[in-house]
Amino acid sequence: MWWPPILLLIVIAGTGTASSLQPDNIFSAGRIEYRKLLVDAKSASLYVGARDHIFRLWIYNVNDTSSESLYTDRELKGDPEETAECERSGNSPSECSSWLRLLFVQSDGALLACTSQAMRPHIAKLDALTMRDRDVPQSIIGVCSPHHNLNTTAVFVEFGNPDGLPTIYSGIRTGLSLENHLIYRPPLVFNNKEVHSSMRTIYTDSKWLNEPQFVGSFEVGQYVYFFFRELAVEFENCGRAAYSRVARICKNDLGGKNVLRQVFTSYVKARLNCSISSQFPFYFDHIQSVYKVDSESDTFFYASFSTADSLFVASAVCHFSLNNINRLFDNGLFSEQPSVTSAWIQTPPEQVPNNRPGQCVSDSRHTSDADLHFAKSHLLMADSVPGGEPIIHQKDVQFSTILVDKVDNKHVIFVYVPSRSEILKLVHWRESGANVKSVHLSTLRLPFPEKIFDIAILPSEYLFVADEARVSQYRVSQCEVHVDCRRCAFDPYCSWNIARGMCFTKEAIHSTAVGWIPDANSADRCSSQGKASDVKIYPGDATLLRCDSESSSWTFEKQPLGSKDHLIVTATGGLVVMNASVEDSGVYRCLSSDGTPIMEYRLTVDGANCAQPRTLDQFRSVQREWCKKYDTYKQSLSEWQAWHDRNSHCPRVPEQFTAGKLSNNIVI
Ligand SMILES: *[C@@H]1O[C@H](CO)[C@@H](O)[C@H](O)[C@H]1NC(C)=O
Ligand SMILES: *[C@@H]1O[C@H](CO)[C@@H](O)[C@H](O)[C@H]1NC(C)=O
Ligand SMILES: *[C@@H]1O[C@H](CO)[C@@H](O)[C@H](O)[C@H]1NC(C)=O
Ligand SMILES: *[C@@H]1O[C@H](CO)[C@@H](O)[C@H](O)[C@H]1NC(C)=O
Repeated sequence: MWWPPILLLIVIAGTGTASSLQPDNIFSAGRIEYRKLLVDAKSASLYVGARDHIFRLWIYNVNDTSSESLYTDRELKGDPEETAECERSGNSPSECSSWLRLLFVQSDGALLACTSQAMRPHIAKLDALTMRDRDVPQSIIGVCSPHHNLNTTAVFVEFGNPDGLPTIYSGIRTGLSLENHLIYRPPLVFNNKEVHSSMRTIYTDSKWLNEPQFVGSFEVGQYVYFFFRELAVEFENCGRAAYSRVARICKNDLGGKNVLRQVFTSYVKARLNCSISSQFPFYFDHIQSVYKVDSESDTFFYASFSTADSLFVASAVCHFSLNNINRLFDNGLFSEQPSVTSAWIQTPPEQVPNNRPGQCVSDSRHTSDADLHFAKSHLLMADSVPGGEPIIHQKDVQFSTILVDKVDNKHVIFVYVPSRSEILKLVHWRESGANVKSVHLSTLRLPFPEKIFDIAILPSEYLFVADEARVSQYRVSQCEVHVDCRRCAFDPYCSWNIARGMCFTKEAIHSTAVGWIPDANSADRCSSQGKASDVKIYPGDATLLRCDSESSSWTFEKQPLGSKDHLIVTATGGLVVMNASVEDSGVYRCLSSDGTPIMEYRLTVDGANCAQPRTLDQFRSVQREWCKKYDTYKQSLSEWQAWHDRNSHCPRVPEQFTAGKLSNNIVI
């Protein structure tokens, strides 16, 4: 039997559909661990933190280090004595080097940098061009971590803080053995004088933060938001489980007078619900990365999630609306645990004071002790924030960094999959009404084997990938990977050229010029021009119709594909037609979960022109041999005519066409 080899080959072909990326440009100054990237579109700079260096690169070509206006290398050498002492106390030479941990661009164009020098973090203001210190670096605790690999976060907030003083908010771990997990705001300083003391969350109370892993922080309006996962206190009596959270604090929070002194009084948090809905929802509870996208009426947080690191790993992408988050914090029910051993319950609304926890007040030091006592134990919302149906979910992989680019009111999502060294590219958009749609556009394989530390995006232009040895630059568009019209049309960076049957980077002219299919609205025209989707095979052949969308379904001649032994849907959403017969000829469509056609194939099983053979093996061999020749020759009718005259019956079975050979002959 020749089935198993075919199946094996298809499986390989099915998962091997990633397209290899080629960098447009590369920057390297040696293997010095390029750990941190910051894009500043305004100054066309890409800032790169590496061991003992900060580089400023030209964002349109990171390889162009020819002129001082495009390139700066700022060395960050620590004091040799301090470095030696750092190593003597048991830290690795790598950790005792100088590292850029945080970098922010201020509105005046200056840079704010937190660096670890021999594990003694310093904060400095740098000139954006020369990267020289603008003033004397200050040693600082609780803003950036001296350690690699801790999952910390920080956001620079220039406006809206008490007395309008700029500051950083961090989600961090401190203490000798890093036992304190907290959200922190350093003292607010004006003219070298401390105006307001530092602020933090309570780190001795697991209700506040319970071994959190921070993944992101953002400021919007009068609030600062933190995204993290932590051990779920509300689940504690049933075992150890991590939940993902969003927390919110008011920028103008000054803490309480007696109760919650120097502690954020406005701290509230809620669970993020990224799950596949069903009678028993399947939850992705470990947030890995988050990215903020502003739109006209709302702000969205796109986040990647994975399941608990148990035997079964799966990952998903969900998105959360800021309006939903705020509505929950402003109007939702609180939850509480009446005693340490009891289950968590919803707090009856009538017990919530008028001065509700989570609201910004003009001066929190005037809030009554009773209200602050209530706030101290009521900071977890009873309900979760809905993340919608996952935009994509995959088995056996862990998603990590997520980046989102807004193009023509569509959101292009890039998700990094470390174990496969791949970047998934998706498009997600809202149609008129509340209809949300998404298409998995492509899977891009990164070319270098080194561990990746950071990925950044210059909207509509480039992705930057920093690894141990280099920073590489890739166009976001990558239109040439699209071999089918529909996917090209759905990709907001691309348009399809009908005459050439190829996908090109979109230019404004394409939407008015003839001969182009520039966007998803005109994607219906894709099916009327079937260049990329005509598949021709012969009886007995197998073929893979690709779709690259896991939640896809297939139709044949507009009817759902029934279950047939010789039609197999692959793990990556493709359809394998095995042992094709003439009856399999027709139009196959791959539909996304909401019914949008992604791919269309017109399959022709050409069995019409052959004489009947005598045995099954002969049938296959003869069919192929003859039909393939036929196909080649019929390009030129006259040639074919002459050939046909000489061979008016099918040739004898050639010896090399044995059953074993046939099994490898898959048309893809
Ligand atoms: C970078 O630039 C140098 C010369 O300017 C050139 O030789 C090299 O090929 C470039 N490398 C890449 C990856 O673009
Ligand atoms: C940080 O998060 C990653 C995954 O998101 C995890 O593998 C790693 O262990 C975390 N680091 C620490 C120090 O817990
Ligand atoms: C999460 O969302 C799903 C689907 O909308 C819903 O069925 C489930 O009850 C929600 N779970 C929680 C804990 O809110
Ligand atoms: C392949 O299909 C033909 C006709 O459709 C059938 O006669 C034959 O048994 C099939 N072969 C196998 C191995 O199933």
